[in-house]
Amino acid sequence: MIVKSLRGRDLLSLQDLTSEEILGLLRLASELKKDRRMFCGRLGGKIVALLFEKPSTRTRVSLEVAVRELGGSSIYLGFNELQLSRGEPVADTAKVLSSYVDLIAARVRRHDDLVELAKWSDKPVVNALSDLDHPLQTLADLLTIWERFGKLAGIKIAWIGDGNNVCNSTLIGASKLGLHISIACPNGYEPNEKYLKLAEENAVESGSRIELTDDPEKAVKDADVIMTDTFVSMGMESEREQRLKVFLPRYRVTEKLFEKAKPEAVFMHPLPAKREEEVEESVIDGERSLVWRQAENRLYTAKAVLLSILG
Ligand code: CP
Ligand code: NVA
Repeated sequence: MIVKSLRGRDLLSLQDLTSEEILGLLRLASELKKDRRMFCGRLGGKIVALLFEKPSTRTRVSLEVAVRELGGSSIYLGFNELQLSRGEPVADTAKVLSSYVDLIAARVRRHDDLVELAKWSDKPVVNALSDLDHPLQTLADLLTIWERFGKLAGIKIAWIGDGNNVCNSTLIGASKLGLHISIACPNGYEPNEKYLKLAEENAVESGSRIELTDDPEKAVKDADVIMTDTFVSMGMESEREQRLKVFLPRYRVTEKLFEKAKPEAVFMHPLPAKREEEVEESVIDGERSLVWRQAENRLYTAKAVLLSILG
């Protein structure tokens, strides 16, 4: 097995990678899934810092387990335990941390802080979620779609709800690899404009079709995958009431909405989910739901990323 090398590179967005590099990571993740002990010890002696400014279950634990199974070790750094929380500049933190560790994975409130961290860090920086992008999630989602349908190009994703960080990274992943994506969100909750433009540019090469609408029924027509995410992302709690008014009931993914998609369409969600807000309980806990598979795949895609950058 040849590991496609991203040696020493940052991963702030899938836009940083070519389609071949993304496919290389997915192939590697798929191999790692077949043999959980594969490459164990390969990261012997490597130390990864996990800097988290927001809570996390999947991202933190999948990265920690990935590092450990590959023979490295990790240090979890909660924002409040760092001098960052007392105003130490991101640049100073980056210079110091990168003199100790081999890679920094960071979950930040502001994407610009991640860019600043990467700018001043001598070691690679991986985005473990920002307000703008969540590349590690999208890698696991693409692996999940590939496993289910045996292909990626030509698959149609319908994204229903908030045009948030996960929507942005899905847009980039899909447009790099030739998946079609139709995004239905209320006015004012569209994905990031720069990401839409990048996706349009990617699509010229990959053949993706990208559609933006406010109509969930239009978006799910002929869809293979219906995706959604929370209507109230971390850091937006103060907007909760107003957001629920905007999104509900029209943007909830329901059994009824699935009737308009392909009969074999599946449901995907990065988790954590709020049942009966963005998704009906019977959908997320039903047979067409791939959410547990997506979460499980976070481990293998995390391993693939770490091996390619550090291995
Ligand atoms: N999907 C995801 O990133 O989950 P966590 O917030 O639990 O890491
Ligand atoms: N959009 C969500 C994703 C959580 C994994 C958030 O940012 O809170």
